[in-house]
Amino acid sequence: MIWYPYQQMKNMNAPYEILKAEGPYLYTKDAKLLDSISSWWSVIYGYHQPQITAAICQQAEKFSHVMLGGLTHKPVEELSEKLAAWLPGDLDYCFFSDSGSVAVEVALKMALQYYVNRGENDRRTVLALEHAYHGDTFKTMSVGDDEDYHFILQVYGKNPYVVHIPTEIAALEKAFVRYGHELNAFIVEPLLQGAGGMRMYDIAFLKRARELCDEYDVLLIFDEVATGFGRTGHRFVADVVLPDILALGKGLTGGHIGHAVTVARKKVFTAFYDDAPEKALMHGPTFMGNALACAAAKASIELYDQLNVTARARHMEEVARKELAGFTDPRIREIRIMGGCACIEVYNAETLAGYQQFAYERGVFARPFLTYLYSMAPYILTDEELIHIYDVMKEWFRNA
Ligand SMILES: Cc1ncc(COP(=O)(O)O)c(C=O)c1O
Repeated sequence: MIWYPYQQMKNMNAPYEILKAEGPYLYTKDAKLLDSISSWWSVIYGYHQPQITAAICQQAEKFSHVMLGGLTHKPVEELSEKLAAWLPGDLDYCFFSDSGSVAVEVALKMALQYYVNRGENDRRTVLALEHAYHGDTFKTMSVGDDEDYHFILQVYGKNPYVVHIPTEIAALEKAFVRYGHELNAFIVEPLLQGAGGMRMYDIAFLKRARELCDEYDVLLIFDEVATGFGRTGHRFVADVVLPDILALGKGLTGGHIGHAVTVARKKVFTAFYDDAPEKALMHGPTFMGNALACAAAKASIELYDQLNVTARARHMEEVARKELAGFTDPRIREIRIMGGCACIEVYNAETLAGYQQFAYERGVFARPFLTYLYSMAPYILTDEELIHIYDVMKEWFRNA
C-alpha cells in the first residue's frame, strides 16, 4: 500500500491517476489538466521535456549510477563545473544530495562545522525566519517554523539552539545584538517563503542581513530549493545578495529526477580543507551525484538560459498582476504576486474546500493548502493558459 504524503490516510480523497504527462499538462483517464503547481514547483519546463529526457536516456545507455565514494564521472564533473561558472561570486564548491531537505541539512551541518573546525564550539545557534519551511527531516524541521508541518517537534519542547524572527529589519538587528556571537548561521528562504504561506518580503531585509552576517561573522544560508531557477523573478536571489551557502533542488533537474546541491563559497570550503581527517565533511548520500540526475541538471541549466526563464518569470508576474491585482472578495485576505508565483490568501480554509475538484472540472490541476490558493506554473505556459488558471480562481469566488 502506498502511504501518501501530508494526508490522513483514513479519509483522504483518492488521488488522480496520471496516465501521461507532457508539457504543462497532466492526463487522467477523463481529463487533460493544466498543472498550475509544477509538481511541487519542480517541473519548471513542463513534463517529458525533450532535451532533459534525451540527456537522461543518453546517460542511461552508459551507466545510471556510481557512487562518489572513491569514484567520479563526467556527468558530475561537468555539472559541478557548470554550476560553479553559472552561479554568482565564488559559490563554487558543490556538494550533491538526493533531495532539498538533505541539501539544507548539509548546509546546516557545514555551518556548524565551519566554526568547530576553527575551534569555536560555542557557535551553536541558528537564526531562522518565522513561518520558515526548509524540509521535513529533523534538523530542517527545527529551523522551520510552521506548526502544520512541524508540530511533532513540540514533544521535545523549544529548541534552545534555534531563534526565529519575523522578516522585519528591526527584529533582525535586535536578534544580532542579542545572539550575534552565538550564531553559526542565518538561514532564509530569500524573498519568498513557500510552504509557510507564499509570504513575500523585501530585498532590503536580505541586504541588511548580509551586512550583519559580515559584521558578526555569521554564515548566511539561502535555501533556494523553491525560489531558485527564476521563481521570484530573479534567476537566483543569490544574484542580488550573495549568501555563503546556497541550497538548490526541485528545478535543478527540471523536476525530472530528485536531486539537490549545497553550494559553498571558498571561505567555507577552506575551513574544511586540512590535513586533519576530523575536519572533513562527514556526509555522503548514496545517490549523491547520480549520473542520470547530473545529466538532467546540466540540460536543465542549458534550458534555463535558452528559454530566458528569468524574463519569462517576470512576464508571468505582469500577467498575474493584470489578472489578479485588484480582484476583491470579502473572503480574500490578501493577494500576493512575485515572479512566477501568485497567491490568494483567504481568511478561512473552508473557503477553499472543494476547489481542487472545481478546478479539475475546468481543466486545471491545483492543490491549495490551508488558506492559500496559489499558482506556481511551469514557465512554458502561454499567456492564455496562465490566464485560464487565474480565470478559474476568480470563477470560484464568483460562483461560491
Ligand atoms: C524552501 C524549501 N526547502 C526545502 C524543501 C525540501 O525539499 P525536498 O522536498 O526535495 O526534500 C522544500 C520543499 O518544498 C522547500 O520549499
